[in-house]
Amino acid sequence: MTTIKATDITWHSTHVDRKDRERLLRQKGCTIWFTGLPSSGKSTTAFTLEHELIRLGYLSYALDGDNVRHGLNKNLGFSAEDREENIRRIGEVAKLFADGGVITMASFISPYRRDRDLARKVHDDAGLCFVEVFVDTPIEICERRDPKGLYKKARTGEIKDFTGINDPYEPPINPEIVVRTAECLPHEITAQILSYLRRKGILICISRD
Ligand code: ADX
Repeated sequence: MTTIKATDITWHSTHVDRKDRERLLRQKGCTIWFTGLPSSGKSTTAFTLEHELIRLGYLSYALDGDNVRHGLNKNLGFSAEDREENIRRIGEVAKLFADGGVITMASFISPYRRDRDLARKVHDDAGLCFVEVFVDTPIEICERRDPKGLYKKARTGEIKDFTGINDPYEPPINPEIVVRTAECLPHEITAQILSYLRRKGILICISRD
């Protein structure tokens, strides 16, 4: 649970609002949140989608677990408390990016349902769209892939709190999208997500006038 230490603070409204940024960028900001086991294909999926969106002329940005832990979240480990704080910060950062008008991808294991629901809530409260994508890859396949050799380390006990082996993963109950990287190629999954975003009016082109 986050302790609130910031007191005696005042919210200042700026001189531009979200609509001004949307008109400038000709798009609506939102967050597409990828959750799944290690090596399930979250980053590959998010990065392929980011690339395709840029190619189509949409400003997008991928926030990635391993990358963010090189900077902003380098002081967090993998205890339940640290994972909670990791996801809390990213939920807030993604919200700021989305408010800035960016189509934001967040690819984090985010193993706890409660933490993901909180990330969704900060978006809901701000009137921003949040799309949860469950990267549903069976653990046997994730373990066979093991590009970073971390499953192997978890099996030998070198890593004691590895998600899926000796640390929990709670799959989403009602995600907006489920993707299967074991059965589909990255460009097929990208098409699946784009089709959802278009159908729901999330991916739109806004006129400047
Ligand atoms: S999360 O659980 O807090 O959401 P996050 O997505 O930021 O995790 O980081 C996961 C990445 O950290 C993995 O892709 C992996 O490279 C690395 N990692 C190192 N130790 C662990 C661990 N014990 N459990 C899971 N991932 C780990």
